[in-house]
Amino acid sequence: MTTQTKPEEAPAAAAGDAFLSVRDLKVHFSTEGGVVKAVDGLSFDLERGKTLGIVGESGSGKSVTNLAVLGLHDRRRTAVEGSIALDGQELTEASEKQLEKLRGKKMAMIFQDALTALSPYYTVGRQIGEPYMKHNGASKRDARVRAIDLLQKVGIPHPQKRVDDYPHQFSGGMRQRAMIAMALACNPDLLIADEPTTALDVTVQAQILDLLKDLQQEFGSAIIMITHDLGVVGNMADDILVMYAGRAVERGSVREVLKTPQHPYTWGLLSSMPNLTSDVDEPLMPIPGSPPSLLNPPSGCAFHPRCGFTDLVSGERCSGERPTLPGGRAAACHLTGEQRQQVFIEKIQPRLG
Ligand SMILES: Nc1ncnc2c1ncn2[C@@H]1O[C@H](COP(=O)(O)OP(=O)(O)O)[C@@H](O)[C@H]1O
Ligand code: SF4
Ligand SMILES: [Mg+2]
Repeated sequence: MTTQTKPEEAPAAAAGDAFLSVRDLKVHFSTEGGVVKAVDGLSFDLERGKTLGIVGESGSGKSVTNLAVLGLHDRRRTAVEGSIALDGQELTEASEKQLEKLRGKKMAMIFQDALTALSPYYTVGRQIGEPYMKHNGASKRDARVRAIDLLQKVGIPHPQKRVDDYPHQFSGGMRQRAMIAMALACNPDLLIADEPTTALDVTVQAQILDLLKDLQQEFGSAIIMITHDLGVVGNMADDILVMYAGRAVERGSVREVLKTPQHPYTWGLLSSMPNLTSDVDEPLMPIPGSPPSLLNPPSGCAFHPRCGFTDLVSGERCSGERPTLPGGRAAACHLTGEQRQQVFIEKIQPRLG
């Protein structure tokens, strides 16, 4: 058995001229148990003002990818290779100081849990105003005005009063809004939202997603929306990147990926989702097994131990040869286009809307 190690996206080795261009990104952690290949050859592009949804089960490398874009990995025990170009600037070669300047001003992150991002010791207003003071040289008074303005924009009632509250005086949904306000303080061109609504109930979730869409219209930010929920990307994103075991397995527009998915893993994700299954007679079809350890990922196609279609591929290709992901609309799988179409029409499409 051989394992192919060539770059995932062979034809596009150099960074493209998209606003954010990631090429053959690898993020490997040295641990006591060995090297964790959390991201292992990932490429994608994002244009200004557009939203890319990155989806995949827990542990597929979504958060690690985006922490790499923000330059937040501990460089002493993390190897980051490949290229991350933001507006033409190569971030993998940027100094800590340069990255710190970019974070907040040019790119900002919205985390899943506002409590970990907000300090309990400072008022909400001070924390929203802080990056504005730091990056724009604004006075304390201007930063406070800015904070009130942003609190209003994200839908906090009585912002003049609430600006002096501490995070614990806010509800979960309001804290999430406050964190969005904090991220927007300096009009970042790139906003990375990592499972921003996972901890919230469905109604608040929908409100926050609507809010993000409105703010994107107003601020023109590019957004990376990380989620394990395909419903969320269907609602928010222009393009989707499906990740499995630290690699991209499928990429396309939202419509293409949700309506005519091409990769067996995406089929599994979609077939196990209750709200995208139109025909109630079709039972949900969860993906068997669980995501692999990235300390010792499966050979060949990392999905092969869980894939129900390996018998359609001749020889031992699924376990022996890593499928590549060509540029553009594509899936990384050894099935032929004809095989995929046939399986899709016979087995998958009847389950989807
Ligand atoms: N600092 C770290 N050291 C070692 N392994 C890590 C570290 N951070 C993340 N990982 C591992 O990398 C893999 C991908 O993690 P992550 O990107 O957080 O997944 P998710 O897709 O759920 O966001 C997981 O197996 C996780 O355990
Ligand atoms: S390459 Fe083989 S194991 Fe991987 S998704 Fe395609 S058919 Fe399944
Ligand atoms: Mg994550």
